[in-house]
Amino acid sequence: MLIAGEKPQSLLFCREKNLERETWDGFRFGPQAAQEVFGVDAAHPIAQLEEMLPALMGNQPALFYAPGADAEWDARVMRWLNQVRAQSRVGISAPQDIHDIRSLLDEMRLVKDGHELEIMRRAAGISAKAHVRAMRATRPGRMEFEIEAELLYEFRRHGAQFPAYWPIVASGASACVLHYNENNARMEDGGLLLIDAGCELDGYASDITRTWPINGRFSGAQKDVYELVLAAQAAAIAATGPGASWDAPHEAAVRVLAQGMIDFGLCQGSLDKVIEAGDYKRFYMHRTGHWLGLDVHDAGEYKLDAKWRPLKEGMTLTVEPGCYIRAAEDVPEAYWNIGVRIEDDVLVTRDGCEVITAETPKSVAAIEALVGHE
Ligand code: GLY
Ligand code: MN
Ligand code: MN
Repeated sequence: MLIAGEKPQSLLFCREKNLERETWDGFRFGPQAAQEVFGVDAAHPIAQLEEMLPALMGNQPALFYAPGADAEWDARVMRWLNQVRAQSRVGISAPQDIHDIRSLLDEMRLVKDGHELEIMRRAAGISAKAHVRAMRATRPGRMEFEIEAELLYEFRRHGAQFPAYWPIVASGASACVLHYNENNARMEDGGLLLIDAGCELDGYASDITRTWPINGRFSGAQKDVYELVLAAQAAAIAATGPGASWDAPHEAAVRVLAQGMIDFGLCQGSLDKVIEAGDYKRFYMHRTGHWLGLDVHDAGEYKLDAKWRPLKEGMTLTVEPGCYIRAAEDVPEAYWNIGVRIEDDVLVTRDGCEVITAETPKSVAAIEALVGHE
């Protein structure tokens, strides 16, 4: 699709109708129907792209496209530009300014309209159901990939086309490996299971993490860490709203987590010292969220003029604090191999935020009531 000219016109280049090819590959609109259905000013056969583009670029002051997204496309755009430049002697000028169109498109992607939100809510609902299914199917002795299969089955049976990213189904010590996704271990009695899984529906991603005990009952130390991460998430969600800095939810989560680490004997010293020196990063080494939308880690800047940007109504992001405690001599043994993350998808509203994945069980009681109960 191209938007060109002094009086901007939208032009679409698409495949022509071809009954033989449609028999093999499926329906094509063709330019005529595409113009009506997609509401563009004009549509042309894709075969005319090479010939028409240099003409369309002539005498235009600027060109916007996405450099570096595709090497072959870059080469074509440069060839068209050079074809226009070669016409300078007949009075046709080439665009002087070349802009990255992503600076415009990424900003547009950050704020969702009602149609986008309706899809994102449905995607969130499907992913919530998949987590419930996974909780019910969990028991000691089963394999992580059996639970992965339950997630994928639930996504697809509700119409989601893909997982938004490959699910992390991490039991025991693997819950402390942030990008674990071998998903091939047997789930052992006494360990935790951390699942990070979300579906993609009609182009939009969802992204949920829950952590639960494989045998359906949190141990004392597991519960302590779980409740700590839950409190950190609640603080981060409370700090999410219009006008708040992008960093505010992260700062809120870090304060709660760092205090917990001191209370559990994982970090030493005052709260301010543990935060300022970054000691907490040994057990919480990632940030608390990211933009969510067409991609799971969606496009869009996090800083403007080198400062964290303010949140705005209609933005969607994740809130996903965690705490990951590997076995080590200087760590109390009761906490070894406890890895917990709790992740929800959040919409910034006029006066705060809405957790669109709220149907996914999260309290200790709600989780214990489900795990292992098919
Ligand atoms: N599932 C990727 C993430 O949580 O960022
Ligand atoms: Mn995420
Ligand atoms: Mn995730």
